[in-house]
Amino acid sequence: RNILILNGPNLNLLGQRQPEIYGHETLADVESRCAALAAELGLVTQFRQSNHEGQLVDWIQDARGAASGIIINPAAYSHSSVAILDALNAYDGPVIEVHISNIHRRESFRHHSFVSARADGVIAGCGTEGYLLALRRLGSVLGQ
Ligand code: DQA
Repeated sequence: RNILILNGPNLNLLGQRQPEIYGHETLADVESRCAALAAELGLVTQFRQSNHEGQLVDWIQDARGAASGIIINPAAYSHSSVAILDALNAYDGPVIEVHISNIHRRESFRHHSFVSARADGVIAGCGTEGYLLALRRLGSVLGQ
């Protein structure tokens, strides 16, 4: 079973970017931890990051019929992107939204996520461990 893990803008700077909020781990570290857990769970992950909304939309469209589930940290696009919401609404499998920080404890403009209207589950404030929790959830939802 194939899981697509998508990361939105500025997450390429994870580890360097506001480490007091997002921690010191890099996105490459998160990718390898996800791959290791996925192997244990009998899943295969494809891990991607883009700073471009349209690229994320294209990848979500490509997941139709190709990925068993999606984990997405839409980053700042969570709070603005109807296009990403629409793309996810055209995808049939389970979707888990992840935020490294607790968006509800931060500025009010981060409290609303368009993606949450589609997500089957939302994980926020668990640090990068949120990606691993999301993988475990998809593993159980998909019957692994
Ligand atoms: C984030 C939270 C967003 O508000 C922010 O724009 C991000 C990262 C998180 O993982 O905590 O870039 O999605």
